[in-house]
Amino acid sequence: MSGNPLAGLRVLPSVLSAAMLHLGTELESLVRAGASAVHVDVMDARFVPNLTVGPDWTRAVAGLVHEAGGAVDVHLMVDRPAAMVRAFAPHADAISVHWEADPHPHRLIAEIRELGCRAGIAINPGTPADALAALAGDVDYVNVLAVDPGFAGQSFIPASPAKIARLRDLLPAAVPIEVDGGISLATLPVARDAGASLFVSASSIFGAPDPVAAFAELSAAASA
Ligand code: DX5
Ligand code: ZN
Repeated sequence: MSGNPLAGLRVLPSVLSAAMLHLGTELESLVRAGASAVHVDVMDARFVPNLTVGPDWTRAVAGLVHEAGGAVDVHLMVDRPAAMVRAFAPHADAISVHWEADPHPHRLIAEIRELGCRAGIAINPGTPADALAALAGDVDYVNVLAVDPGFAGQSFIPASPAKIARLRDLLPAAVPIEVDGGISLATLPVARDAGASLFVSASSIFGAPDPVAAFAELSAAASA
């Protein structure tokens, strides 16, 4: 993947809601339809009450996505992510780790960058935007959770746009804001108007009868 996979307005399909047994076909068609990055949700049944995928599975997805010309954005919803970044970095272009999950975020961001990935900080709905003030100049992107993480298909928390707007003020203009959770044709424009440019969606894409058409509709809404 050449160029910055996080630049511009983009919709990132989250494989959390993909039909796992048809994953290869679904991802190939989405990347060919213009999905320049795919979002992989990693959960450890500790930081969040659900368990998903690990590095080997991510390697398989990355092989396919990279081959099709896309990038891989790994969202680590795990306690103490420092123990995990080394295992995921070879298969990722960007990795976000939770502010709430590690007391030494500067060290962790530096390590993710040294491993060759863009480094993001993810922030839970219950954490105030200003918690990231001390990191604002040191991150490549911020992932704002608009739901309590753990499951696809939850409702967008209404306070999220105000938080995105506050982060937009705190962060340098070159640092994109990703919004993750509850993104639909109704909520995407609100998040975009608040200052987000990267829109993660699981159920609005993979829960639709035609995921490629749903991706195209969301992408059109992002650019409208
Ligand atoms: C939340 C995950 C999200 C999730 C979004 O736990 O981090 O990436 O897959 O799912 P939807 O788009 O269905 O809210
Ligand atoms: Zn996510």
